[in-house]
Amino acid sequence: MFEKSIGALGLALALTAFCAGGTALAQSAGETEYMNACAACHGETGVGDGPLAELMTVDLPDLTQISANNDGEFPMLEVIQIIDGRSGIRGHGYPMPVWGQRFKEALSVEIGAYASEIVTRGRILALAQHLESIQAQ
Ligand code: HEC
Repeated sequence: MFEKSIGALGLALALTAFCAGGTALAQSAGETEYMNACAACHGETGVGDGPLAELMTVDLPDLTQISANNDGEFPMLEVIQIIDGRSGIRGHGYPMPVWGQRFKEALSVEIGAYASEIVTRGRILALAQHLESIQAQ
C-alpha cells in the first residue's frame, strides 16, 4: 500500500519533470529556429529591427504585440497558419517566405513526404510557441 503510493508519486513526479522538460525543449528549439530563420527580418527580440528590415519595402510588424493586437489573447492557430503560409488563409507570400513549403522541401528528399510533413509541423509549432513566449505583457 505504502509502496504503491510512493510508486504513484514517483510516476507523477517523473511525468511532471518530463512535461516541463518537453516544454523547455520545444521552447529552446523554437528559439533556435527563430534566430536562424526569422531574426534577420524580425530582429532577435521580435520588434522588427533585423538587419534586413531596412532593405524591405514594407514595414515589419512587432511580433511582441501579437497578443496586444488581439484583445490580449495569443491567436495560436492563426499564427501557426501565418508562419506555415500554405493554407492561404493569410499567407505571407512575398516578402515573407512560405515557411511550411521551405521546411518541407528541404527535408523530403532525405526522409520522405509524410515524415517531412510531421517534422515541418513540429518546427512551425515550436516557432509559434516561441512567439507566444515573447509577447509583451
Ligand atoms: C524576409 C523577411 C522575413 C523573414 C525572414 C520572416 N518574416 Fe515574418 N514577416 C515579414 C513581413 C514583411 C511581414 C509583414 C507582412 C506580411 O504579413 O507578409 C511578416 C509578418 C509576420 C507575422 C505576422 C505578424 C502580425 O502581427 O501580423 C508573423 C507571425 C511572422 N512574420 C513570423 C515569422 C517567423 C516565425 C519567421 C521565421 C520562420 C519569419 N516571420 C521570417 C518578413 C519576414
